[in-house]
Amino acid sequence: MSVEKRLKRVTVPAIIKMKQLGEPIAMLTAYDALMAEILDNSGIDIILVGDSAGMVMGGYENTLSVTMEEMIFYTKSVRRGVNRALLVADMPFLSYQTGIDTAVKNAGRFLQEAGVEAVKLEGGREVAEIIKRITCFGIPVMGHIGLTPQSIHSFGGYGVQGKEKARAKQLIEDALILQKAGVFSIVLEKIPADLAREITDRLKIPTIGIGAGNACSGQVLVTHDMLGLYEKFKPKFVRRYAELGKEMLEAVTRYIDDVKNTNFPNDDESY
Ligand code: KIV
Repeated sequence: MSVEKRLKRVTVPAIIKMKQLGEPIAMLTAYDALMAEILDNSGIDIILVGDSAGMVMGGYENTLSVTMEEMIFYTKSVRRGVNRALLVADMPFLSYQTGIDTAVKNAGRFLQEAGVEAVKLEGGREVAEIIKRITCFGIPVMGHIGLTPQSIHSFGGYGVQGKEKARAKQLIEDALILQKAGVFSIVLEKIPADLAREITDRLKIPTIGIGAGNACSGQVLVTHDMLGLYEKFKPKFVRRYAELGKEMLEAVTRYIDDVKNTNFPNDDESY
């Protein structure tokens, strides 16, 4: 990538333009300044402070436990590492479902306190009014439909969504409703590739797929999954680009051996 392109800040209109130009959008998650800086320097288009932070950083079993205060903390850290990519923060469970005023206030906190350019929230028609109000105050919103992890208990797990005709129809309608409500893009999680293609074709705004096939306007993965750092489970849609978890384990084991054998530090590493 040219230095000029790398230095140009990615904006919400630029992301929408990418769909019009047929340029795929690359998005990854980050939860701390160091990882964010590496992603930003690599030329990633969008950095998402996902509520997956609760699982990856907090060690919670699912994304339901992470709070607004924790998300603000992670997002502020990430902001310090990002100069170019569009920065989006996930609104955690209960930060937008309990009332429109609370939703607007919490969305605004991400812009005011953590300096993001946009927020993301999960749901279809049931969050349309909330999205209308947030976006009317100039806060860009990314939607998220399909497998929405904040609803795992109603789904009964992390299964593929939209395999049945009725659910597929519902997801297409939800995507159109969200577009009308004002979202600038929609994450499609764990739905059949054909359905994701149909939704993408019917929308003017970009779709970002995760486990939704290759026809989406862009793709997102949890960075710790694709780097092989989060090893508790590996969904089929994750491609591992590195095995950093294994490398770290090996490095730490070698360090322990060196300390135990008094091979570390040597003379060059001492004063
Ligand atoms: O929380 C998250 O990381 C997400 C992405 C997987 C889309 O919502």
